[in-house]
Order: sequence, then structure tokens, then C-alpha cells
Amino acid sequence: RLLIVDFGSQVTKLIARRVRESGVYSEIHPFNKVDAAFLKAFNPKALILSGGPASVADMGSPRADDAIFQLGVPVLGICYGQQLMAAQLGGAVEKSDEQEFGRAYLEKTGVSPLFAGLTEREQVWMSHGDRVSDMPDGFEIIAKSPNAPLAAIANEARRFYGVQFHPEVVHTENGALILRNFTHTIAGFKGDWTMAAFKGEMMQAIRDQVGDGQVICGLSGGVDSSVAAVLIHEAIGDQLTCVYVDTGMMRKGESDQVTALFRDHYDINLIHVDAGDEFLSLLEGVSDPERKRKIIGGTFIDIFEREAKTIGGAKFLAQGTLYPDVIESVSFDGGPSVTIKSHHNVGGLPERMDLELVEPLRELFKDEVRALGRELGLHKDFVERHPFPGPGLAIRCPGEITKARLDILREADAVYLDQIRKHGLYNDIWQAFAVLLPVQTVGVMGDSRTYDYVLALRAVTSTDGMTADYYPYSHDFLGETATRIINEVRGVNRVVYDVTSKPPGTIEWE
Ligand code: XMP
Repeated sequence: RLLIVDFGSQVTKLIARRVRESGVYSEIHPFNKVDAAFLKAFNPKALILSGGPASVADMGSPRADDAIFQLGVPVLGICYGQQLMAAQLGGAVEKSDEQEFGRAYLEKTGVSPLFAGLTEREQVWMSHGDRVSDMPDGFEIIAKSPNAPLAAIANEARRFYGVQFHPEVVHTENGALILRNFTHTIAGFKGDWTMAAFKGEMMQAIRDQVGDGQVICGLSGGVDSSVAAVLIHEAIGDQLTCVYVDTGMMRKGESDQVTALFRDHYDINLIHVDAGDEFLSLLEGVSDPERKRKIIGGTFIDIFEREAKTIGGAKFLAQGTLYPDVIESVSFDGGPSVTIKSHHNVGGLPERMDLELVEPLRELFKDEVRALGRELGLHKDFVERHPFPGPGLAIRCPGEITKARLDILREADAVYLDQIRKHGLYNDIWQAFAVLLPVQTVGVMGDSRTYDYVLALRAVTSTDGMTADYYPYSHDFLGETATRIINEVRGVNRVVYDVTSKPPGTIEWE
């Protein structure tokens, strides 16, 4: 098996997931746990050192245990991992004025098995300030980029490789191939681990965890909670009751569709709670995004606890938490990641919670969840749905939330999605939604002056939500959509399109 040593990058888990996709079992462990004794027990066949937010040039920044370099197995350092490897093996790292964030082009400067099958010029994803300035003995340069002359280095004899870019993100076009070259060609893995095996293990783990206890599951109608519910239902049948909470911040028609679809298609106990007023009154006067998320998360749990009592003492709360929710919310295992946002199903959990969590999808990414959903026979409409965040429209209404603003947003969002469906774009886009800005601008309609809100449209392509690019709509589509929204939705007189990628933006605005 392969060991991934985590130095706190936001995308460490993507490494595990790419490696998994090529059929190689891997585990992630934080750098401060990986010492000689750990390595002896784990006995890795290869190691990957992740990126991280620290600077190798700073005193006290995380280091890899030197025992890693004594094992005689292949090591791949990514970004911070590369710099660390260079520094610890006798090279040097400098802080650079020429930072690189986003797309860059890599040019091969040598022949290495790591880059077998790549073209001479490859698109890669960079995200770094520091860079390697001097190589350790025995290393050579195998590729460069405009702002990183030592973009990739290798010591072929010891099978040590270091890359400045991130092969694990999809925007590195041949990143999966590079990782596969490392695991299969260089480290000699066969690639016989599968996702079906994972499903079986998960069902057994659910049974072991809950025994004959009752479980309630928060069902949002999104892919994650639907897959979690069906998986758990398959594992424990009637011990599961689903609770759908209408927060008043759902999309237009969403609540009816979700409950109807679930009652029609699946034989799962379902309680529908109408809590719109409760959420709105708690959010009154709140405009800070983190406070919104915490309040919503807390209120969800209050409601689940209440419902748990009504169904005769559920002890467990199941959630469709995915890995990106985990990595972006908390620093797992006391590890080194920085909090970006508190996703409600993790970061907002009140400490006093009485229910034990069941989170079978915690290790997975969205597209893996979709694959699992298909394997479970879930309806196509569910599996292909765009993601919808737990806090709903609350985080698409920057500033204070009012019922009136939510209503405007709901109408505008419905017109926008209708346009996307009409033009046959829904499945090309990973996620699309509207954001109602707390800004009014002047316009003219007919002979009158208007002073209404600005609506921002967002649409991104992604495979896992960890990185994303904006969707390149045609100007005709954008123009037609803006006209329709302004004509059909009262309260909006200006429409703008968000062309920010992630990073540096996030997908949601809050
Ligand atoms: P960001 O905005 O962090 O979003 O780039 C990444 C993906 O996660 C979704 N998201 C959430 N999902 N609860 C959820 O279940 C949340 O609190 C939450 N916040 C963001 C977001 O819609 C995108 O798909």
C-alpha cells in the first residue's frame, strides 16, 4: 500500500483519490505522526509527500521524518513536499517574487519514467510562492515552467521525484497519468483495488456501528444525502428514518419535488419538517457568512434531535458528508489544514450533540458518490443533480437574509436554470446558481428609472468541487438569460457573470 504524508494542503485527499482511481490502496496520515516506528508498522511500498500552506524557508515549518528517505522505496514530493525533499536532502528553497497561481505550462527537459506518455508542453496547475532554487546531489531537472526553472526534479537511482505543480487536481491535464506512472511504473503497484469493494466494506461498517439502534438521516434531496440514505437503507432497512427539513431557503419547488420523488421511488420512512420561519427568525440581522453557517448547522441539529425523540429514541444521525466538506471545515486529526469555510454538516455541529454521527461517504468525492449511487441503482435524476449546499440560498444571499430577498433570488435562479436546461447545458455544467448581491444599481425600464438589485450568475465545471473553472457560456446565452431574468423577475435590474476559478475563488460566494 501507499502512504500519503499530509502537510496540510487543501487538496491532499485528491492525491488519495487519484491513486484510488488507478486501483491502488492508499492512506493519508499527518506528517507529525509519521516517524520511524510508524513507517516500520505501515511498511509502505511508496510514499507521496503532499503540499501544504507553510513555507520551508520559515523556522519551525513542518518537516518529514528523515527515516522516510532511508526506506529505499519511491518517494514523490508535491509542491511543499518537493521543496521539503530538496531542502532536507541538501538543496535549497527560496521565496520567489514570481508567484504562480493557476494554469502554467510545463516543458520536459529530460527523459523520466514519471513523465512517460506526456507531450512536450503540458498544462499543469500551480499554487505556490516558494520554489526550489538548488537541487540536492544526485538530482536532475526533468521539467521547467516559466516561473519555476526547477518545476520537476528527480533522482532516478533512488526513485525520488519532486514536482512543483499539483498532479492531483483535474486542471493538470495529465496529472492522473503522472501519478499512475509513479504508482504503477516506478513503484510497481498492480492496481487491483475497486470501488465495489468499498461499498461492501461501508455497509458492513454501518451495521457494526449501529447494531440494532435507530438511525435518522438528514435528507436534503441532493446527491450526497440521497446516496447515503439508500446505502444505509440497504445496510439496515427499517432501522432508518429520513428527515427532510424545509429551511425556507430551498430552490423554487424543491421541497415538493424531493418528497414526492423519494416517496414515489423509494420505500424509506420519511418525515417532512417545515421549519422556514424558525430558520428565518434565527438569521434575522445576521450577515457574517460564518455566523450564518453556524446558526444553520446548529438549527439543523436541534431539529434532528427533536425528531429523533419522536421516533422512539434514535441514537444515530446519518449525514452525507463528503471529503471536501471535511477537509475545508476542520483540521483533521489535529493536522495542519487551514479552515476555509464551516460546511454545516461538519463545522457547525454543536458540541452538546446527543446523536452519534454515521457518515459513510466521508472518504469520498462527489463523482465517486455518483458512481456509488449508480451502483446502488439510484434514479438518474438524482445521481446527475447539481450539488446544492446544506445552508441553501442563505449563502447565496450575501448580507442580511430577508424573505423578500430570498423570493427574488428563488425566482431568478429558476429562470436561470430553466435557460440552462432549455439550451441542453445542464449535464455539461457541474454546478450553476444565482447569487443576489446586497447592492442596488440604477437602471431604466420603459420610461422609468429603476433602483434594483444586482444578480450574479455562477456556473462551473469541476469533477469534485475541490478545484473548478468557470463555464464558458456563449455571449448569446448570457445576453438572452440576462434579458429574461430582468424581464421576468421583479427586483433585479442588472445581471453579471462570475468568471473566477477555484482557487483562488470558492464555488459558493460565502
Ligand atoms: P465551495 O464554495 O467551498 O463549495 O467551493 C464546494 C462545494 O461544496 C458545496 N457546499 C456545501 N455543501 N454544506 C454542503 O452540503 C455546506 O455547508 C456547503 N457549502 C458549500 C458547494 O455548493 C460546492 O458544491
